[in-house]
Amino acid sequence: MNADQAYQRFVRPILFSLSAEAAHDLAIRNLRAASSLPSVLRTLERFKPLPKPRTVFGLAFPNPLGLAAGFDKNGVAVPAWAALGFGFVEIGTVTAKTQPGNPKPRIFRYPEEGALINRLGFNNDGADAIAKRLRALRQSGRWPAIPVGINIGKSKVTRIEEAVADYLYSFRLLAPLADYVVLNISSPNTPGLRSLQEQDALEQLLRAIREANQNGPRPVLVKIAPDLSLTELEQIIATAEQNGVAGIIATNTTIDHSSIPASRDQTGGLSGRPLREKSTEFVRAITSRSRLPVIASGGIFDAESAREKLEAGAQLLQVYTGYVYRGPGLLREISSAL
Ligand SMILES: Cc1cc2nc3c(=O)[nH]c(=O)nc-3n(C[C@H](O)[C@H](O)[C@H](O)COP(=O)(O)O)c2cc1C
Repeated sequence: MNADQAYQRFVRPILFSLSAEAAHDLAIRNLRAASSLPSVLRTLERFKPLPKPRTVFGLAFPNPLGLAAGFDKNGVAVPAWAALGFGFVEIGTVTAKTQPGNPKPRIFRYPEEGALINRLGFNNDGADAIAKRLRALRQSGRWPAIPVGINIGKSKVTRIEEAVADYLYSFRLLAPLADYVVLNISSPNTPGLRSLQEQDALEQLLRAIREANQNGPRPVLVKIAPDLSLTELEQIIATAEQNGVAGIIATNTTIDHSSIPASRDQTGGLSGRPLREKSTEFVRAITSRSRLPVIASGGIFDAESAREKLEAGAQLLQVYTGYVYRGPGLLREISSAL
């Protein structure tokens, strides 16, 4: 039995008998425990896909398939993600302040549509605690040999006018621990956050981050929404290029829920299969207008959807919802087809 079959037959039925968030918490608890057990990590490594190395924004990736932000918000299972075969992992979104997120339930499954809707609202331990955890991991010698990105966002209690200082706080603490940093300006679940995609606000944010990124600079990426107009996207590309951004992550979840029957709809960001086409269009729109490297995220479920993103010009790929539905076999399937 291969990893895909084992996940489909045994692991997924257990996880899917729980609520989406309880399943997620259980998976994270196990991977967190595994992260400090070398013998378990070695067992997980059996799922590892073949190496397909590439270098993007100066970093060496053993393969182009990464874990998207939001899965390991607190950076508790970094060694396990590497052992499972991810070519890179993005932790976060981390905010300057610890936050509980929105009331539960706040993650919803749509198996028929291959989708999830979430309105978690950046529940996370906060930049101080996460920096401490990552520092300890570095000192332990268990830091993995894959790039680790840290995705940062605005704390809910911080007014949008003070967003720059809030991002700067997290950036200063976390950038030294990260291989790359992502400015998340596109989650639909923090009121006002997406307004940071507007030209003046983005310019201000990028200038401040650039100034703070002088010593041992890290590649800084921006993660954008799939709900932007083409004009807005073009402005973001121009602003990013003018301000030393290293790449763009396209895309975050969408607020377009037209693929979900109204009777089952929920407020939040939609991810998975219904997002595939839109996010691929964004990858194509960016790579046809700019040489900025793109990390594609949205609806990667199999080798074909992964290939589609690469053909649209993406350099790297990230999975979230596809991994929930397909499990570790997804990496092997995509990697062997690339
Ligand atoms: C439950 C859940 C939580 C997420 N949390 C975050 C987050 O904290 N920060 C972020 O940038 N993206 C977050 N995302 C978005 C994913 O990183 C990804 O960009 C998006 O889901 C599209 O990819 P997918 O179709 O493979 O899921 C989250 C997605 C899901 C489903």
